[in-house]
This record gives sequence, C-alpha cells and structure tokens, in this order.
Amino acid sequence: MADQIPESTISEIRSTADIVDIVSEVVLLKRAGKNFQGLCPFHSEKTPSFTVSPDKQVFYCFGCGAGGNVFTFLMQHEGLSFPEAVRTLGRRYGIVVEDRQLSPEERARMAERDGIFDVHQQAAAFFRRMLLESPEGRTARAYLEKRGMRSETIERFSLGYAPPEWDALAKYFAGRRVPTTYLETAGLIIPRKSGSGFYDRFRDRIIFPITGVSSRILGFGGRVMDDAMPKYLNSPESPVFNKRRSLYGLEAARGRCRETGTAYVVEGYFDVLALAQAGVTNALATLGTALTAGHVKTLKGHVSDIVLVFDSDQAGIRAALKSVEVFRKENMDARILVLPEGHDPDSFIRKFGAEAFGAAARNARSMMDFLMEETIRKHGLSVEGKLRIISEMQGPLGAISDRMARSLYIRNLAEKTGVDEAMIAERIAPTNPPGGGRRGPAAAGGGGPAGEACLTGRHIRIERKIITMMLQFPDILPEVERRHTLELFEDEQLKSIGRRILTQYSTTGKYHVSDVIEALDDTEREMTVNLAIGGDVWDREGCLRLLAQFESGRKRQKDNLLQKIEAASRNNDQALLLKLLKEKQHRARKRQTIN
Ligand code: CTP
Ligand code: MN
Repeated sequence: MADQIPESTISEIRSTADIVDIVSEVVLLKRAGKNFQGLCPFHSEKTPSFTVSPDKQVFYCFGCGAGGNVFTFLMQHEGLSFPEAVRTLGRRYGIVVEDRQLSPEERARMAERDGIFDVHQQAAAFFRRMLLESPEGRTARAYLEKRGMRSETIERFSLGYAPPEWDALAKYFAGRRVPTTYLETAGLIIPRKSGSGFYDRFRDRIIFPITGVSSRILGFGGRVMDDAMPKYLNSPESPVFNKRRSLYGLEAARGRCRETGTAYVVEGYFDVLALAQAGVTNALATLGTALTAGHVKTLKGHVSDIVLVFDSDQAGIRAALKSVEVFRKENMDARILVLPEGHDPDSFIRKFGAEAFGAAARNARSMMDFLMEETIRKHGLSVEGKLRIISEMQGPLGAISDRMARSLYIRNLAEKTGVDEAMIAERIAPTNPPGGGRRGPAAAGGGGPAGEACLTGRHIRIERKIITMMLQFPDILPEVERRHTLELFEDEQLKSIGRRILTQYSTTGKYHVSDVIEALDDTEREMTVNLAIGGDVWDREGCLRLLAQFESGRKRQKDNLLQKIEAASRNNDQALLLKLLKEKQHRARKRQTIN
C-alpha cells in the first residue's frame, strides 16, 4: 500500500513538511532549548513531556512513549492511513500525490471528505449572501442588530441566513451540479418521507458556520428568530463533523488563546459572539452537548488555563460538576466561573462590560474549591452532612498526585467543615491519577526477567548508547559498518534498528532519522525517536572510544562467562551451569555468523 506512492514523492513531502507547524495546529508548543514541548495529545498529563525536535523532524513523548515523524503523527492523531497522511500533507504543501496511489476505499473516503468540505464552503457562501444581500434576509439582519451584533462580528464569524423556503439550498446546489450524496451526508438536505426529492434542513434560521483548525467548515448551527422549536439546530454528525470534539469559535479564538494562554468555554453561540465583540476573543462554545474528554483534548492543545463559564442556575451547576469530572478523568485542571443569577456570558458582558467579565474571570475558583463548596452546599454541615461530604471528597482529593497540593486541600476542607484535619487525611489514601501510567524509556529496551537483565543490563545500556550515537552522529556510520559492531549486539530490537539505519545510509549515502521512521514497527519507532531526540553531543573521538569500550566489554563478558561456568560446576549448581552453557553456545553461534 505504502510502496505504491513513489519514494521520491514521499521523500519530497517529508523534507518539505515541518513537524513543528503540523503539531502546532493541535498542540500548544513552547520552546525548550533546541526542542519544543507541550502536553501530549496521546495521553493525559499535566506537565509537558511531549517533545518535538525541529532538527530531527520527529516527536517523542517521555510520558507515554508515543513517537514518530510528521506522517506518523497525522496517522496517530487523525486516524489516517499512511497514504492518506502523505496526501493530506502533499495537499497542504502543494505537492501532487496521484489518486491512483490510494486504495479504492481510501480514495472514496478522501473524496467524500473533500466533497463535504466543498459543499460546506459553497453553502456558507450562499447563506452569507442571503443574510447580507437578499430581501428575505432583512428580518435576519434586524434580529442580529436587535441582539447587538455589529457588522464586523457578523463578518468575523461569517454568519449567514437560511431563507424560509423548503428547498432554497437544494435548488441552489441542483443548479451547480453538486452530487446529492455529499449534501445528504453533510445533512444539509433531507430526503422527503413521501415521494422523491429533498428538503433543506435549515430554513428561516440564522446560520453559524462551525470551523475546524484548518479553516474548513465542519458543520453548521442555526437559530430561529422567534419562539419556534427547536431554538437551535445543528448539522448531524458526518465524516467531517464530530460534536463531541468540536468547539464553536475555535478558528477565530485560536490566536488569542495562544497569546493569553487562556480559553473561556461557554455554552452558546451568542455567548462567543458577544464576548468577542466586547474584546474577549478567546472564547469557545460546546455545541449543545455536555463537555467531553474530546473537548478537553482539543483545548489542551491550545491553552494551559481553561475557564469554564456557567450560569448559576441548577442546570448550570450540574453541568459544571459534570465538566469537573471530565477534566479530572483527563488529568487536566480547569477553573470554574459561575456568573451571577440569571446571566449567561452574552447578557453579562452586555450589561457589565468586558472589564467586569475579566475581574470575575480572575476570581474564578479552582476545580477543587468549586467541588468542595458545592459538596458542602449540597449536604450541609450537620453530622450526617459532614460524613457525606468527606466521603464524596475522598475520590477527588485522593486523586491529587501532588502531595503538597493534596495536603493543602485537605486542610482547606478541614477548615470549611470543622472536621479534624488528621481524620480527613487518614480517610484519603492517595490513588494513582488516571492515565498516569508510564511506559518510559527504561521499559523499552532489554526486557526479560530481572536475573537475565543483570547478566546483560550493562551491555544493553551500551547498545542503546551506540544506536543513539548512530542516530545523532551519522558521520560514524561507516565505522560502525566496518567494525561489524551490530553483530555483537544482544538486543535483537536494537540490532534491527541499527541495521535499518545502516541500510538507509548505504543505499542513499545520507541519513536522517525521520527517513527510517515509517519502515519500523510501533515499538521500534518509539524506541528510535526516544534515542534520537536526546540532546547528547558527539565527536568522532568519543564515538570511537564508545565502540572500543563496547568491544572490549564483550570480550570481558566472554572470559567472565568461562569463569562462571567453572564456578558453577565446582558448586555443582546444575541449573545455573545449564543456563551458562546455553549462553556460551548462543554466543559461539553469533560469532560464527560474523566470521
Ligand atoms: N442548544 C442546542 N439546541 C437547542 C438549544 C440549545 O444545540 N435546542 C445549544 C446551542 O449551542 C446554544 C446553547 O445550547 O447556543 C445554549 O442554549 P440556550 O442556553 O438555550 O440559549 P442561549 O445560548 O442563551 O441562546 P440565545 O441567547 O440565542 O437564546
Ligand atoms: Mn443567551
């Protein structure tokens, strides 16, 4: 499959695409020395261990071990196949990848996505013209004006209007010979129940295009202008639209989010519009669904400080508590801003202004404070109530991995409830934070039971170091080849990585880490970028010393083995003797293959 695309095209795209650019679209990266760091999009974490190297054009997460190059990043993050990832990047950088190089299913899938995006683009233009220019659009323009929307806001969010007829959009597209299937899959038109033909989903509604990070329209929202039901209507889920991940306003808010490091998450379209119009341009809205893990993942790619804004009514508090749970599961922090009774962000900012909103936001409570206060409010401070509070807070407090923070919150809870601090602390046993499991570099090499590792651990360490050297200092590759160093390797995986590097080098005469990535399996790939991304400094002399050290170590190991065999037979330790003899045989076979 992959080898159907000419290596020259792949290679051109690989060398043109910049991994920092591509990753930056979904992960907030900060410079850290020669590399960039951010929160890993592949596992939940609070401190950045996801590293991108612009020099080596690879990424590696020291927390979960995910790693690869620009293609594998897209494959893992977007769920694309290799040819799809190649094509996506090709399109982005203006390098043509022929269609016939995709499998029929892939081609159909790509064509459908492209078709839907295209249909969305055209529909948005149609809605926009209807709002700004058509006579029917007059009521819509008046409605937006009544709600205080200025024309630059309408422009900024590309608002539109769907006219009242049953088939205005269907007719418009019929005239443009757009395939009906794309319109239907996009949910813009719906087949009539009786007879044939289609009718428009959005009629007589204000239209909000929902845009993704690459400026493409994922779907639409539409609001009636009177009390008709439903008040809001959204595009259905489609191959390009996933409500559980998408956020309204992301495209417009992205820049400001990055500048300030903060994002406000609100509930409604008009909240985003009103905030932006008042200068708070880093606000996003969920799309009529509760906040999900998918939203949290999207958000953490852009900001480090997330403020969830809720109404203070029952439903608002309930939603806030639910969101706190989602954030906790994702191991992410957020702050909670509950607006005064009867206000949503739209009405609040229009009444009190941006400064008041900013002040309220600065005072937003931490998730844990909010949770504590709400739990206390729910149960009250009777003896029964206190018992329930402590029991409900057990999980959330126990999950705080920072011991200092945990003990401060426990003290806080003790003060608020009047329960003895030590008693609470006793109840709260620290649990491991969810998703915090480490699959660190140490686990990647060697393997096998501890006893074996003792015998070979040191050598595997040197082998890792040699591969690291080969990855980071390609000048040494001819020397490694000449000495047959790899043949002395005990770790099969490291050896196979080393062979790939040498093959790549001897066939192309040059070598770049990102070039061998696709040929490796998952474990090898992760191990390779892990070793490649370190900041070691190499010179030729140091390298030669390392190789010599490895070779003499191997020799000593051999002598040492003979001594051990003697000792074992003196002590009549049959089991050990057998093991050692096997080891000796194994090494002899290895030497044979070298000579
Ligand atoms: N929503 C929805 N479907 C509905 C009602 C609401 O998808 N039938 C979503 C919309 O995204 C909406 C948000 O929930 O923006 C909040 O809805 P709501 O609180 O009812 O209204 P407001 O945002 O205050 O909308 P408006 O100010 O336009 O009345
Ligand atoms: Mn509102």
